[in-house]
Amino acid sequence: MAAFKELVFSGVQPTGNLHLGNYLGAVRRFVALQEQYDCIYCVVDLHAITAELYQPELKSQIREVTAAFIAAGIDPKKHIIFNQSQVSGHAELAWIFNCVARLGWMNRMTQFKEKAGKDRENASLGLYAYPSLMAADILLYRATHVPVGEDQKQHLELTRDVAQKFNNDFAAPIAERGHADGFFPLTEPLIGGPAARVMSLRDGAKKMSKSDPSDFSRINLTDDGDAIAAKIRRAKTDPEALPSEEAGLAGRPEAENLVGIYAALSDRTKAEVLAEFGGAQFSAFKAALVDLSVDRLGPIGAEMKRLKADTTYIDGVLREGSERARAMADATIAEVKDIVGFVRG
Ligand code: TRP
Repeated sequence: MAAFKELVFSGVQPTGNLHLGNYLGAVRRFVALQEQYDCIYCVVDLHAITAELYQPELKSQIREVTAAFIAAGIDPKKHIIFNQSQVSGHAELAWIFNCVARLGWMNRMTQFKEKAGKDRENASLGLYAYPSLMAADILLYRATHVPVGEDQKQHLELTRDVAQKFNNDFAAPIAERGHADGFFPLTEPLIGGPAARVMSLRDGAKKMSKSDPSDFSRINLTDDGDAIAAKIRRAKTDPEALPSEEAGLAGRPEAENLVGIYAALSDRTKAEVLAEFGGAQFSAFKAALVDLSVDRLGPIGAEMKRLKADTTYIDGVLREGSERARAMADATIAEVKDIVGFVRG
């Protein structure tokens, strides 16, 4: 992939109620990557309407994710933060990719099956085409690396399949234009981290989710110290003391989750955390976890609230980010149209 400049792209849906799972699984990793790569972080508002069309809170949710990016430490001057709908290239490239991707590929997408549920006939066409739009998000910038959760791996594979087929089907015009390694890169997912998957505080078998009816199942990024403390104190545990080694967490999903959260927030491994807390009762461990969580999350939540209220600033960041994104996207779209064979009058 020598021909492709290293670039990170990722997207977060503006779903509202950003929680600890979104922070540890995504946003915090975005912050870390900006030291090493040029990064584009996108609030994927076009994706947001695939499951539910009219969302009265959509604008506020887009601003909330933007505020979270900035409050967590992403620098919008050095990197690009914008919302997808402001750059028309996403929708344009997605259409072309709808003609690249095969029905057979789309029919294998497990996330569609989960999200569409039993009533598949009533799912939107947009939900079905979601992975094609996601491939467009990434390839519009010819991004080489995409930090995502485990659950997005299949979409990244589809993105590579789309890139590969486009490169193959248009091999002649692509070579004519001097792209020796194909036009689109085969993008790599970046998956991992100590708490890539944060589980519900009420049920260690379920992912922490904004749609869980119990607010005690999750720590929202805008929760204040008292709320964080109350939720951690009420978190489900088992009656045993903490083990001193990681193997002792097997079959104890709630213990594993809390230890994973502690490890991630303190930048340590689970083994290191257990070396310190092995033999401790949950009451003592939870007290330490409350202190750590309030210390790490409190300032981010406070800054998020402050930024969210400053819509002039937030909208300015999105405008400036989308201008820079658009300049890159327009160049790709012009070339893609030429490669495909559309006439430019
Ligand atoms: N599908 C991703 C999710 O639900 C969000 C997303 C949309 C995305 N476009 C993307 C992630 C491009 C990475 C790159 O988490």
